[in-house]
Amino acid sequence: MPRPASRLLTLPEYALGKYPEKKRQLIARGVDVIDLGAGDADLAPPPSAVARLAAAAQVPAMSRYGFGLGLVEYREAVSRFMKRRFGLEFDPLAEVVPLVGSKEGISHLALAYVEPGDVAIIPEPGYLAYTGGAQLAHGEPYRYSLRPEKDFLVDLDDVPPEVIERAKILYLNYPNNPTAAVAPAEYLRRVVERCRELDILLVYDNAYSEMAFDGYSPPSIFEIEGAREVAIEFHSMSKTYNMTGWRCGWAVGAKELLAPLARVKLFVDTGAFMAVQAAAAAALDDTTGFAERNIAVFEERRDAAVEAFRENGFDCVSPKATMYLWIPLPEHITSAEFAEFLMEEEGVIVLPGSSFGEGGEGFFRVSFVTSPERLREAAARAGRALTRLGVGA
Ligand SMILES: Cc1ncc(COP(=O)(O)O)c(C=O)c1O
Repeated sequence: MPRPASRLLTLPEYALGKYPEKKRQLIARGVDVIDLGAGDADLAPPPSAVARLAAAAQVPAMSRYGFGLGLVEYREAVSRFMKRRFGLEFDPLAEVVPLVGSKEGISHLALAYVEPGDVAIIPEPGYLAYTGGAQLAHGEPYRYSLRPEKDFLVDLDDVPPEVIERAKILYLNYPNNPTAAVAPAEYLRRVVERCRELDILLVYDNAYSEMAFDGYSPPSIFEIEGAREVAIEFHSMSKTYNMTGWRCGWAVGAKELLAPLARVKLFVDTGAFMAVQAAAAAALDDTTGFAERNIAVFEERRDAAVEAFRENGFDCVSPKATMYLWIPLPEHITSAEFAEFLMEEEGVIVLPGSSFGEGGEGFFRVSFVTSPERLREAAARAGRALTRLGVGA
């Protein structure tokens, strides 16, 4: 039998890949499953997007290949969004690349930039598409451990000089999955400056730019002076608009930096369904206040989840952004053991910190993607699991 490429051997397990099947088995056993695993809410997308999708699907031209250009209407809506939200100008044709979900672009980007032996600095715990993309491109991952005492920020001064010398890409993601950390502007200024000095491509993953609470408004990296010379920023329709399955996102940045990504994409995809791009444009241009209402729903869920997990013996910081709680565990139990026990014994799916890389050990991630009632129920079950494991209060 033909053997798969050895590069697959170096990839970590993709934890989220196994949960749909696990969940199916649990439900078949009659378990009342509460799934707080993926950042994938049980909420509806904007009615304006659904209506636009339905209408666009009736138009034969929408069913044709989008190619790299895709639907100009979508590029223009992205450009308007970047202007409205961050006050930044991007040429819709030259400085925006439509993506089949931001994960697609993030992972393919490495093929455009990384040569064998180049180092990719990857925050850990972190989104696995960074590791996946870099390793599939034969890059060498340098795993930077995000720690609470450093506010989960990457400090390039901690990276050994011999690594920095070979570094080609730095992945940054704030608001951060899974730690929910946010990045102060002063920090971003320092990082942009260092990347410019060192000629490192700054891949700024801004999937949670809108998913923020308590009046906090996450910045675009391009609000930082000089960022256009070194950064590419990734955005997603998934979280803000409950459109995870629609697979639509975008990259923005200087034309010269984006062109290599667009070129790789010419060979691996032929664009997202244009009716989906039309619907995404409708969501971005929505003037009904959908996004604001949606974030308010998440804020209510965050508050319910934080209170409930605290009441049930967990030490948990109330996040300013994202849809995640990043909760420390007592030392005697590994995150994998805890998550497995909680799923098998109590029917609650959470992600072990170690599934985001070794740097995530000692924590588990809760996605507040369901109703406050179900979150309270999940927290009660998690508290019971902790007690049954002999480590609870
Ligand atoms: C940090 C981060 N970046 C990117 C994505 C990808 O989003 P999508 O591919 O759905 O646009 C996710 C999804 O969970 C994420 O957590």
